[in-house]
Amino acid sequence: MAVQLFKKTAFSSVYQKYMIPVSNEIMNLVLSYVKDKTNGQPLEMAVDVGCGAGRYTLPLAPHFKKVLGIDLSESQINLAKQNTLANNVSYMVAPAEKLPLEDASVDLVTAAVAAHWFTVDKFAHEAVRVLKSKGCFAAHAFYPATELEYKDLSHDLNVVMSEVWDTFFQYDVNRKILGHPFCQYKTIYEAIPLQDKEWITDIPIKYEMSIPEIIGFIQSMVMFQIFLEKDMKGAEQFLIQIDRRFREILGEEADSARLTAHFKHYCVLACKH
Ligand SMILES: C[S@@+](CC[C@H](N)C(=O)[O-])C[C@H]1O[C@@H](n2cnc3c(N)ncnc32)[C@H](O)[C@@H]1O
Repeated sequence: MAVQLFKKTAFSSVYQKYMIPVSNEIMNLVLSYVKDKTNGQPLEMAVDVGCGAGRYTLPLAPHFKKVLGIDLSESQINLAKQNTLANNVSYMVAPAEKLPLEDASVDLVTAAVAAHWFTVDKFAHEAVRVLKSKGCFAAHAFYPATELEYKDLSHDLNVVMSEVWDTFFQYDVNRKILGHPFCQYKTIYEAIPLQDKEWITDIPIKYEMSIPEIIGFIQSMVMFQIFLEKDMKGAEQFLIQIDRRFREILGEEADSARLTAHFKHYCVLACKH
């Protein structure tokens, strides 16, 4: 199963190093939603499910008395513990489908770029079980087809980027991995058994990235790791080719260019009354 990849230390490190940075826009969207729904009451407890190395867990620390990061992967939890700088944050190995928490004990259940790995119905019910009254749910991720922009070379750069996705899709013909991200979490929105819910799609977020950062980002995608497992030489060659083609397009500017990478994020928000 692809999710086993997150248990590998090497992949955990690549993911931590190269995955696109935490989106402050999405963090602000989630925090404003919680503050709005709880009328600015003090917030006791947040749980970040599928927390990985804690990238989206730590920014919650200033806003809650306690924050708990949960992940199925021990190697991710170990990385998260090494990264922790806040003493109100703790981590635990546990599944999203059986949260180690009391009923009605949590103000926010969140999942960042993770809910598509879970058994969605079970996770949705667990999330609602552990939420207090007025507690909030927030699951967000980004749409995988990134667009690149750089001077008048955007078209050529995007031809290469489309080939990256076409290659990745060959390893996910039934959309078992990319199904939820492609429908922007519609399935997760529908699975949440709460009346008060919102589904926000196509949130534009851009990052400035160098060619090595884009190549690193491609490596940090699970689809690339599956490619590596099935055909290590082919995957390595593929990456070298992609890097070469980007460099041919950019010519002398290849080392200095900061490309604008456009991502579409999406978010499911809900509140228990
Ligand atoms: C793409 S990573 C995202 C990590 C982190 N939230 C971030 O944004 O950097 C997805 C994470 O979900 C975890 N995961 C997958 N299935 C899980 C499950 N059923 N229960 C808990 N964690 C799970 C994986 O181990 C992995 O760390």
